[in-house]
Amino acid sequence: MSNGKVFKDIADRYDRLNAILSLGQDQKWRNTVVSRLPEGRILDLGAGTGAANEILATRDLVALDPAPEMLSLNDADERVVAVAEALPFVDESFDAVFSAYVFRNLDSVDTTMAEVARVLRPGGMAGIIDLGRPVGKLKAKVHRAGTAVVLPIAGMTVGAREEYSYLHKTLDKHPPPQQLLADTPLTLVDTWRLGPMGFVWAALLQKSEVRS
Ligand SMILES: C[S@@+](CC[C@H](N)C(=O)[O-])C[C@H]1O[C@@H](n2cnc3c(N)ncnc32)[C@H](O)[C@@H]1O
Repeated sequence: MSNGKVFKDIADRYDRLNAILSLGQDQKWRNTVVSRLPEGRILDLGAGTGAANEILATRDLVALDPAPEMLSLNDADERVVAVAEALPFVDESFDAVFSAYVFRNLDSVDTTMAEVARVLRPGGMAGIIDLGRPVGKLKAKVHRAGTAVVLPIAGMTVGAREEYSYLHKTLDKHPPPQQLLADTPLTLVDTWRLGPMGFVWAALLQKSEVRS
């Protein structure tokens, strides 16, 4: 089997399982963020196979991901292999930055946010969505117990048990977005919760109109 076929299979499984785990809501959740971002040139940070391309279709899209295999399945016109922590773009070259289900995988959120702030034009906006734990100790505990069982089983059904055991662990990696994004060069405009028990978080940030 060729490498391309292997990655296509993994990506198909990944997209299918995401749709199942989110009860088919993953695109709707992405869209709650995208609909609040300005039109114009947009960077999809950690774009993967291009799951968001349809809802970004009215914009001038640049898809960035460190995995060339994922990006090779992405049909965006402009695709860039790079990490979020070192963006290969000039200052102030985007109207918006969007990132879905990526932040748990980053090496450094602080470095990434400094880079996002650098490439945004003054007044530009960043929208982020990712999975975490619900708010409140009891809800988080119940959710943790649930995902410890459900995720490996769901992963097993599509032959990706290890990936989804890993997902279970990464759900505890970050504090809530109000803490995670408190000290970035951007202003945190809004955060909101989605999904069962609110385990999905979204955040909207803006770069100052005034040049420092
Ligand atoms: C769960 S997938 C999400 C893909 C897509 N954004 C979506 O909504 O389906 C996570 C993606 O983040 C990418 N990624 C991992 N580390 C990254 C980094 N440091 N910078 C940018 N992207 C990264 C992975 O290659 C993968 O494509």
